[in-house]
This record gives sequence, C-alpha cells and structure tokens, in this order.
Amino acid sequence: MKHLLKLSDLSAGEILEILNLADQLKYENKNGIEHPLLKGKTLGMIFQKSSTRTRVSFEVGMYQLGGTALFLSSRDLQMGRGESIEDTARTLSRYLDGIMIRTYDQSEVEKLAQYGSIPVINGLTDYAHPCQVLADLMTIREYKHSFKDLKLCFIGDGNNVANSLIVGCIKMGMSVSIACPEEYRPDAEIMAWAKENGDFACTSSIPEAVKGAHVVYTDVWASMGQEEETEKRRAAFGSYQVNDEVMALADPEAIVLHCLPAHKGEEITSKVFEEHAVEIFDQAENRLHAQKAVMVLLMGNQK
Ligand code: CP
Ligand code: NVA
Repeated sequence: MKHLLKLSDLSAGEILEILNLADQLKYENKNGIEHPLLKGKTLGMIFQKSSTRTRVSFEVGMYQLGGTALFLSSRDLQMGRGESIEDTARTLSRYLDGIMIRTYDQSEVEKLAQYGSIPVINGLTDYAHPCQVLADLMTIREYKHSFKDLKLCFIGDGNNVANSLIVGCIKMGMSVSIACPEEYRPDAEIMAWAKENGDFACTSSIPEAVKGAHVVYTDVWASMGQEEETEKRRAAFGSYQVNDEVMALADPEAIVLHCLPAHKGEEITSKVFEEHAVEIFDQAENRLHAQKAVMVLLMGNQK
C-alpha cells in the first residue's frame, strides 16, 4: 500500500491489516501506552472543504504518533490562486512525509499521488470517503465481533460515503443494501463491481433494503458542494429517513451509524440518533484510531 486514494485499491488483507493495527493503537491509547511511531514526521493536510472530525483526528493522531500536522487551507495555498496540483505535489513532497487532501474531484487526489513522491491520503472527495469507512468497519467489528453474516443497509443519497461503504463492506464479506431514489444511486461501476463480487442490492424500497439489517447507516441528503440543490434534494429524499418505523424492520439488535455531521429531522430523527448516540460517537472516535493505523502503515519506517 503506497497511498489511500480509494478502498477499491486495497485488498481485503490490507483492510484487515489497517483494522487490526487500529484496534491495537486504540488499546494502547486507552491504556496510556505511548507509540511514537512517526516521530519527526510531518503530515500536510490540504482542505478545500470544511471539516471537524477529519481535521481534528488527523492532527491529534499525528501528535499522538510523535509527529506533527500542518493545516493547509487551499485558500491560503498558491493552489487557491491557480498553482497546479502537479507543481503543488512536487513542492510539498520536498518538505512533508505525507499529504492528506479533502477536495471535490477524485482526479485531483489521484494526480497528487501521481506527481508527488510521498503517500497521499484521501480525506474525502465527491466520489469517495475511504478514511470514514475504515473507521466504520472498525466500529462494526467492535460491536458485532466479526463481519460474518452481517447485512448493512444504507438509506439516503448514493454519495461518497455510500460508494466507499459498498466497497469496504463487500470486501469484508458483508451483504449490502442501498435504499435511495432512482436518480440518486451510487456510482454505477461500483454497483456493478459489488454485484459481481458479493451480495449487493440497490432499491428505492426502504422496507426491502432494511429488512433484517444488522447495521443501518445514513448520511446527509445534500453533501458539501451541493448546497444549492438543498431544496430539490429535500423533496426527492423526503421519505428516506431513519426513523422508528424503519428501525422496526431491521434486526432487533441493529446498530445505527452516521458519518456526521447529521441533519436531524431530515435523514434521521433526533429520537433514533439519540438512542444510538453511543455507537455514532464511538464511530467518530474511531476515525482517530483508523487514520493513525493508515499513517503508520504509509509513513512509518517498517514498510
Ligand atoms: N465524517 C467526516 O468526515 O466529518 P468531517 O466533515 O467533520 O471531517
Ligand atoms: N457526504 C458528506 C459526508 C461528510 C463527511 C459530504 O460529502 O458532505
């Protein structure tokens, strides 16, 4: 593994290696065992979109690993004035040991990796959110102890999070069902891959998708960059909400996950959110541990 650009680049074995290391780092962290595995290393974090979890968990993660992180808002970089990704990649590679980037187009992340000479981590694009899904898989395994015979149902927009969830969960051998309006389906190539490689279904029927699900997952109806579509999306997604009626059809022991930030009253009711807040904030915490594992594997010396 040289970069983390999208989960389809990783084998099931590589994903499990990340999850196992993440569990170990979490255990050590909780027990006050220091692990300065990235002492003296620097991560640059380029943000073209807002962030709470990704920014803070990467920055704290680097600190806990003995390294340092630089917050680089694209507005302040020369990139914001038109310097190319290619030149930014070649320059930053001379100073840094790794780059995390949150941006719009997946091709920018791929280009950064192509032109730079250091590991690149995708901190969210319009297409994918691999760091999120590594934390999600870690959380699912914590609660359910294995991925065997588990069904995840995602309700809502077939967005970046849905795309990565499909790939990550199918690679771990889970069944995946998506409930979304016809015109907001996940990426067509990802869905075709999932159908060929596992138990996957995408339907506009929530009852059909959620039946017996062990993990119920949702995300906002309008992602970053889609703000002007908010009203149109509200109309299209009106019934795609995780609420008591939906939860009644899931497995009685089902957990609920949300990548956050949540728009309560839209994709999830406040009641369901609060009933499952423990899982949801464990999931948010696990961003820290999963990303530390990714950084150690990509930027550490033991490769
Ligand atoms: N889930 C997630 O990536 O959160 P932020 O946008 O706050 O980083
Ligand atoms: N789908 C959301 C996820 C935020 C973490 C977005 O892209 O805004």
